[in-house]
Amino acid sequence: MAEITIKPISAETARQIRKTVLRPDQPYETTKYPLDDDPDTLHVGTYLDGELVGVMTVNREAPPGLQNPSAWRMRGVAVAEKVRGSGYGRRMAQFCLDYVSQRGGELIWANGRTTALSFYQALGFQARGEEFTTDTGPHYQVLRWLKPLDRNLLEITSEVE
Ligand SMILES: CC(C)(COP(=O)(O)OP(=O)(O)OC[C@H]1O[C@@H](n2cnc3c(N)ncnc32)[C@H](O)[C@@H]1OP(=O)(O)O)[C@@H](O)C(=O)NCCC(=O)NCCS
Repeated sequence: MAEITIKPISAETARQIRKTVLRPDQPYETTKYPLDDDPDTLHVGTYLDGELVGVMTVNREAPPGLQNPSAWRMRGVAVAEKVRGSGYGRRMAQFCLDYVSQRGGELIWANGRTTALSFYQALGFQARGEEFTTDTGPHYQVLRWLKPLDRNLLEITSEVE
């Protein structure tokens, strides 16, 4: 039976899968994110029989237009094609959400590829605002609250939409 391990990894290790899955046509330098080395940042990897097959990162960062000191960003979400649909993305997300919740995080957001929107929705995220395009294609900002909704923040959200 296959052995699956989900555990914290280094930023350099995460970059390997970011490169092959998310940025195969872009220079390796583009796989480094500004807050990769922040002390609070968590990089998670999934190992299948010792082989790294998935990565995910969360860092402290407020979404554009929303001032929330307890907001975290999820990024670098990537699972090797051969093992997609096996639940590894969901399990890494749960690992990250637990980590964020333990640190008092109230919301988590991502710039999610439109092709992955259903993945985020399956995890309880909602799309916010209009679709936009980056160097890797069309995206939506997706957002999930981790605590009961804060009305003040919701008002700020609707103002910027
Ligand atoms: C998006 C991605 C990370 C999902 O990882 P995964 O391990 O295949 O996802 P899981 O198997 O854990 O699926 C979790 C849930 O999301 C759903 N889901 C995942 N990918 C989906 C897709 N492309 N379309 C529709 N639903 C999807 C699954 O049905 C599952 O729902 P369920 O648990 O209610 O049945 C993976 O497909 C991937 O790496 N894609 C290419 C890179 C990418 O787009 N990354 C996101 C960048 S923002």
